[in-house]
Amino acid sequence: MKSFDQAIADAQRVTDAVLRRLIPEVETPEARVFEAMRYSTLAGGKRIRPFLVIACADLFDVSRSCSERVAAAIEMVHTYSLIHDDLPAMDNDDLRRGMPTCHKQFDEATAILAGDALLTLAFEVLAGDETHRQPEVRTELVLEMARASGARGMVGGQMLDLWAEEHKLDIPEITRLQRMKTGALITFSCNAGAILGRADEHRRIALNGYAHDVGLAFQITDDLLDVSGTAAELGKATQKDEAAGKATFVSLLGLERARDQALILADQATKHLEVFGEKGNILRDLAKFVVERRS
Ligand code: IPE
Ligand code: IPE
Ligand code: MG
Ligand code: MG
Ligand code: MG
Repeated sequence: MKSFDQAIADAQRVTDAVLRRLIPEVETPEARVFEAMRYSTLAGGKRIRPFLVIACADLFDVSRSCSERVAAAIEMVHTYSLIHDDLPAMDNDDLRRGMPTCHKQFDEATAILAGDALLTLAFEVLAGDETHRQPEVRTELVLEMARASGARGMVGGQMLDLWAEEHKLDIPEITRLQRMKTGALITFSCNAGAILGRADEHRRIALNGYAHDVGLAFQITDDLLDVSGTAAELGKATQKDEAAGKATFVSLLGLERARDQALILADQATKHLEVFGEKGNILRDLAKFVVERRS
C-alpha cells in the first residue's frame, strides 16, 4: 500500500504534467494570457482537489488517463478562483503559492483574462473525447462542475464572503457560505470520481457525505491558519481575515472551538467511508491531513 505522502506527491507530479500539456506556450500575440495561466497553475499548490479526483476514481478502478484530465480541469477552476480572489477588488493579495499574485506579476486585466480562460479551458477538457468514452459521463461531469463553480456554488460563496463583511452571520449561515465557497469544488472533486466510475447510488451518497465534511474542515483550517500560520509556511499573507472583517468559524467560535469543530468534521468524514473498506484508507489519511496541515 502506497503511503499517503507518496500518493499526494504523485498527484502533484501528474497534475503538473497534465497542466503543462493542456496549457501550451504559444508564440502568437496573445501569448501573455497563456503565460499567466501557466504561471499561476504551475506555481505549486497542494493539489488537494486533483488528489481527491484521482483517489475517488481509483475506488472504482477508473483509468488514470481519464481521472488525470478531470484532476487537471478542477485544478484549473480552483486556480482561476484564486487568481480572482486575490484581485484588488476582492481580497487584494500580493502573494500566492509563495510567488507574486497573478495581477502583480502581470497586470489586473491579464489576471482577469487568465482566470476566465482557465475556467473555460476546464470545461473544454471535460467535454473532450479523451475524458471518457461515454458522452453521458462527460455531460454529467460538465453539468456538475458548472453547478459547483457558479452562483449556487463557489461564485455564490465568494459573493456571500463579501456580503458578510457588512453583515453579521450566525453559525448556520457561515456553514452555508463555506460549503459554497470552498466545499462545492471539493465535493465536485469527489463526486467526479464516482461519476467516472459509474458508481451506484449508495457509494455516491457515501462519497458525497465524505466530501461535505472534508470541504468544511478544509476551509475552517484555512481560517485557523490565517490566524496561526506564517506567510513562509503558507505562501500567502496571513492575519488578513480579521482585518477585512471576514466571517469565519474562528471569528465566531474562537481558535480553540473552531479547531475542535474541524477535528470533529474530519473524523465524521471518515465514517462515510465504511462501504469502501480498506480501499478507503487513502481518503481517511487525506481527511487527517486536511486538518493537520501547516500549509
Ligand atoms: C486555498 O486553497 C483557498 C481555499 C479555498 C481555502 P488551497 O489551500 O487548496 O490552495 P493551494 O491550491 O494549495 O494553493
Ligand atoms: C477563497 O477563500 C476561496 C475561493 C473560492 C478562492 P480565501 O480568500 O480564504 O482563500 P485564501 O486564504 O485567500 O487562499
Ligand atoms: Mg477570499
Ligand atoms: Mg483570499
Ligand atoms: Mg483564507
